[in-house]
Amino acid sequence: MKYKEIFMKRAIQLAKYGLGLTSPNPMVGCVIERNGIILSEGWHYKKEMYHAEFLAINNIKDECLLFNCTLYVTLEPCVHFGETPPCVDLIIKKNIPRVVVGIQDPCDKVKGLGIKKLKKYGIEVIENVLMDKCRILNKRFFTFYEKNRPYIILKWAQSNDGFIYSENIKDNRISGIHARQLNHKWRSEEDGILVGRKTVLNDNPKLNVRKWFGKNPVRIFIDQKLSISNSHFILDGSQYTIVFTEKQKKNQENIEYIQISFEKKIINQILNFLHKKKILSLIVEGGKKTLENFIQENIWDECRTFICDVVLKSGLKAPEITEIKGIVSKKMNLNKDQLIIKLNYQFKN
Ligand SMILES: NC(=O)c1ccc[n+]([C@@H]2O[C@H](COP(=O)([O-])OP(=O)(O)OC[C@H]3O[C@@H](n4cnc5c(N)ncnc54)[C@H](OP(=O)(O)O)[C@@H]3O)[C@@H](O)[C@H]2O)c1
Repeated sequence: MKYKEIFMKRAIQLAKYGLGLTSPNPMVGCVIERNGIILSEGWHYKKEMYHAEFLAINNIKDECLLFNCTLYVTLEPCVHFGETPPCVDLIIKKNIPRVVVGIQDPCDKVKGLGIKKLKKYGIEVIENVLMDKCRILNKRFFTFYEKNRPYIILKWAQSNDGFIYSENIKDNRISGIHARQLNHKWRSEEDGILVGRKTVLNDNPKLNVRKWFGKNPVRIFIDQKLSISNSHFILDGSQYTIVFTEKQKKNQENIEYIQISFEKKIINQILNFLHKKKILSLIVEGGKKTLENFIQENIWDECRTFICDVVLKSGLKAPEITEIKGIVSKKMNLNKDQLIIKLNYQFKN
C-alpha cells in the first residue's frame, strides 16, 4: 500500500464510527500527518455535530505542528455554511499546506468548489486517493444525490427449500438468533424501514431496534385502504411512522399519512416523497409482493438474503433475483443460516 493510502485507510476507519448516526450528512474521517506520524484524528460522529476536519484540526493545541503537515479527508471539505462554518476556510486559516481528498462531494453546494477554493489559496490538493473505498463508505449519500432516491436494501429470510412464509413455521420465525440480531444492527444503520400491508397484518412487526443498540429507523408501510387497525404495533406512535395510502387522513402524533395514487406505479411516488424527507436509505423487509415491486422495476442497490436451516415444504415462495442483476459480493455462515449479499452495481475493492 502506498504512503498516502495508509493514512486515507485510517481516515475511512474513523469515518465508519459514524455509521447510522450522521444521516442526512455523510460519514467523514480525517487524519493529520507529518513525517509519517499521525498528529491528530477526527470523524463526524453525529448529525448537527462537528465535522471531521474541525475536530482533527482543533485537537492540535500547538499550531506550530501544523507546519508542513498533510490533512487526509475521505470526502471533499465543505465550502458552505451549514450547521457548522466551512471546513475549507478553517484549513486555509490554519495554513495547512497539503490536503489529500478521497472523493469529490456529489452535493451541488460543494461538488468541486471546496477543492477549487483550497487550490486558489495555494494549498496543494491530491485528489481521488482510495476513491472507490470512499465512495462505498458513503454509498447511501452518493445514491441519494446522484439518483435522487434513498439507497435501497432488500432483505428477507427464506427456508432451505425457498419459502418466506408457511403455516408450518414455528413461532413465526425462519431465521436463527444470530441472523435476527444482525438484522437489528442493520435496522440501526438505515434511515427508513418499509413493509407491505400483509406483513403488518400477519406478523404485527415492531420494526424497531431491540437486539442491538442505536436509533430506530422511520417505519414506512403501504396501506391503500387504511385497513390496519391502531391495535397493531406499527401504529402505536412509539416511533416516527409514514403510511402511504389512497385515502385522506389527518396526521396523528408520530404518524404521517401520505396520499398517493394507486392507479400509477407506487414505488416512484414513495421514493420521491422519501427523497424530499431526506431519508438517505431504506431497508425493505418484505413481504413477497412488496419486495417484488422493487425487483421488477429494478430499483434496488443491495439484496441481503438469509438461507435458513429449516425446511417448510409449502407456503409463500421467496422472491427471485436473476444472476445477471445481482452480483454476489458476500457469502457467510451465521451459525446454521447462510447470508448472501448481492449488489446491483459494480465497484472496485
Ligand atoms: N421471511 C421473511 O423474511 C418475511 C419478511 C416479511 C414478510 N414475510 C411474510 O410475507 C407475507 C406477506 O407477503 P405478501 O407478499 O403476501 O404481502 P406484503 O408484501 O407484505 O404486502 C402486500 C400488500 O401490500 C400492499 N402493496 C404492496 N405493494 C403494492 C403495490 N405496488 N401496489 C399496491 N399495493 C401494494 C398491498 O396491500 P392491499 O392488499 O391493501 O392492496 C399488498 O397486498 C407474510 O405472511 C409474512 O409473514 C416474510
